[in-house]
Amino acid sequence: MMDGSPNDLSHVVEADRAHIWHHLMQHKPFETNDPRIIVEGKGMRVWDQGGKEHLDAVSGAVWTVNVGYGRERIAKAVYDQLMKMNYFAGSMGSIPGALFAEKLVEKMPGMSRVYYCNSGSEANEKAFKMVRQIAHKRFGGKKHKILYRDRDYHGTTIGCLSAGGQDERNAQYGPFAPGFVRVPHCLEYRAFEQEGAPEENYGEWAASQIEKVILAEGPETVGALCLEPVTAGGGVIVPPEGYWQKVREICDKYEILLHIDEVVCGVGRTGTWFGYQHYGIEPDFVTMAKGVASGYAAIACLVTNEKVFELFKDDDTDPLNYFRDISTFGGCTAGPAAAIENMAIIEEEGLLENTTKMGDYMLDQLQALADRHEVIGNVRGKGLFLGAELVADRGTREPMAEAKVQAVVKDCMAQGVIIGATNRSVPGKNNTLCYSPALIATKDDIDQIIAATEGALGRVFG
Ligand SMILES: Cc1ncc(COP(=O)(O)O)c(C=O)c1O
Repeated sequence: MMDGSPNDLSHVVEADRAHIWHHLMQHKPFETNDPRIIVEGKGMRVWDQGGKEHLDAVSGAVWTVNVGYGRERIAKAVYDQLMKMNYFAGSMGSIPGALFAEKLVEKMPGMSRVYYCNSGSEANEKAFKMVRQIAHKRFGGKKHKILYRDRDYHGTTIGCLSAGGQDERNAQYGPFAPGFVRVPHCLEYRAFEQEGAPEENYGEWAASQIEKVILAEGPETVGALCLEPVTAGGGVIVPPEGYWQKVREICDKYEILLHIDEVVCGVGRTGTWFGYQHYGIEPDFVTMAKGVASGYAAIACLVTNEKVFELFKDDDTDPLNYFRDISTFGGCTAGPAAAIENMAIIEEEGLLENTTKMGDYMLDQLQALADRHEVIGNVRGKGLFLGAELVADRGTREPMAEAKVQAVVKDCMAQGVIIGATNRSVPGKNNTLCYSPALIATKDDIDQIIAATEGALGRVFG
């Protein structure tokens, strides 16, 4: 396949068309067009059923394959581990589970305990359950509310959608769980749409809006605040200057646990091990999934500090006093076996440094593209996690129609470059092109991504 010669996969295509319910897709077009099957991958590139090569600028479509495709070293480690011991429930330990946890918390000063499960949604649910249990144990059930932010996403379950700040993603899936409360977003480019937003010190103001919600709800009812360090699917929102420091202060002031959802940013995406580490703050919960093993095995982790952990073992005479939760597949050993190698690759190949360097280069290139194309209203990003917001009018910042944004993505795909876009997420604001190439991206790769985007913008907008 990598030599470009198509194998005959017509039976696979027909089986897919007949039986696969694809994720996040309207299926009507498959009645007349073939579904795309990704057959093989190496480095930054993937090949489809027709043998066509694509440069993947989104790491498996959803910012996941951080170390790139075809890593033999990870596959071998997983094979060896599966032959030795594939599974035992997490009430027991495993060799890779213990060793990866040790390596992971070394990268997270202040954090100490790792709870394994198998998806980002599940990791977030675990944190929500811990917050609720702490409320019952210490505060008579009162301090149970969980704050989440407009435009953030924490997963697909009904619990996570209850903490979902993307109204179009949530639409038609309610009613949701009670006890989740929304706080305003912190996208400075759209500050003008927020009543009372100042021209200066927007970051502090945006954080103070969280405090306003806490005071309105009653601080004694608020148990936790759950935020993405840099919002992903809600539009690649890099928090403004001063925001995170103030958020931490507010949490301390009202004894609110801080839960940072690193499902996208975690393990290198923004050039540090974790996104929150750009801001010098210490969280109470960190959840992670996608990049932990780059998709070579399913693994997610909820990491807590010792303060949270201690709350669950302080009285062993109380039969309810521990975290009464299990994740069956959290006991799979392939995940931590893959994650150990994934982390070693990032260290040995200097991929954090590459991410920072190439991320800065790509941000500059996107900015230069914005200088040439009116339709790009705003460019933002951190490391190899970038977005370009498209607008119909630079003056009013009216968002570009989603269909046009999707036309840009489609044109890039036709050119053999896979980029992303915010997708049925925030009503009327699905207008941001998304880029998250693997952390191994080179200058040439980035030039190819930028050139494809420029060609597409030219064709779609003239
Ligand atoms: C920030 C964030 N949190 C949580 C999730 C949910 O992760 P999963 O799809 O593994 O359940 C996602 C998925 O895109 C995400 O972007």
